[in-house]
Amino acid sequence: EQSERDSLFIVSDFANKHFQHNLHQHEQGGIGMSYLKQRGLSANTIKKFELGYSVDEWTDLTDTALKAGYQQKYLEATGLTIVKEDGKKYDRFRGRVMFPIHNVSGRVVGFGARTLKTNDKKSPKYLNSPESDIYHKSNVLYGLFQAKQALRMQDMCYMVEGYLDVLSLHQGGIENVVASSGTSLTEGQIKLIGRYTQNITVLYDGDAAGIKASLRGIDLILENGLNVDVVTFPEGEDPDSYIQKVGDTAFKAYIKEHAQDFISFKTSLYAAETKGSPVKKAEAIREIVASIAKVPDAIKRTVFFRSCSLIFDIDEQVLISEYNKMQLQER
Ligand code: UTP
Ligand code: MN
Ligand code: MN
Ligand code: MN
Ligand code: MN
Repeated sequence: EQSERDSLFIVSDFANKHFQHNLHQHEQGGIGMSYLKQRGLSANTIKKFELGYSVDEWTDLTDTALKAGYQQKYLEATGLTIVKEDGKKYDRFRGRVMFPIHNVSGRVVGFGARTLKTNDKKSPKYLNSPESDIYHKSNVLYGLFQAKQALRMQDMCYMVEGYLDVLSLHQGGIENVVASSGTSLTEGQIKLIGRYTQNITVLYDGDAAGIKASLRGIDLILENGLNVDVVTFPEGEDPDSYIQKVGDTAFKAYIKEHAQDFISFKTSLYAAETKGSPVKKAEAIREIVASIAKVPDAIKRTVFFRSCSLIFDIDEQVLISEYNKMQLQER
């Protein structure tokens, strides 16, 4: 017997095929296609990630699905159709480029959808499927299904913020890349990566929000026992814009050159502020010790204390006693 969840998978798969059909065959599809081309995406990438288009009409998907025999309750449960109080139905996604989100086994569980308008303050840049019985955002990573083999082969995972970052890197030959897509990185997502590799390199946007997200991500990754490096990008660039700007080869060289372990990352972040101020320097050191404290492995912790003591030119024992103090305060 078909379960409720199966029905949600099936209607999501139908929608995914419909959006792809629109992109390639519908008279409005060309608008979406030129947008994707203008973003530098190849026909191959578009096909591999099953990108699609939702036409700019109120009930295109809903009507097509109902006519094909799909039940309204499943269209509603996946958030594809929104039903108003007066019973009127309309499509959630209209006039947007569609990014299907797959679970690890490759089934579509939801969508991200980007507006083509560049400066429209009225509607959000990205609309996403709501949580459903098949889509739990905190346990899904965009691109993981396409990245699985590469994660094992490279024994490393690049973590980016957005859909376009995944697509551009993948297209540039960096296939071991996933995105947390809007939600801040969760423990569930880290555990998911941990099935394939213990090494994460965070490539967040070169803006204040990206750096803040990196800092939060680092501690969570460390707490879960995985290793983390960080690459920062020039102000205003994200991995997608940067690889499109400098090309694959220069991009790969850049991330190789700029990958920092989390101690160097935090150190360089605080370096500017701490210059000449012993108080600020002490604060920075305490911040870093707090991160090291999250590492469950004692040997790794020892290595990190050593490296921190070298960078700040401070006795290792001081750091360790600071760490011990923190442990006591936790209780
Ligand atoms: P960004 O604002 O960095 O967008 O958000 P982006 O991925 O670089 O998009 P482009 O290059 O302008 O097309 C990063 C991610 O945060 C989520 C999306 O997953 C996006 O890819 N997000 C962002 C939303 O869910 N909704 C939004 O309105 C904006
Ligand atoms: Mn559930
Ligand atoms: Mn950003
Ligand atoms: Mn971005
Ligand atoms: Mn971007």
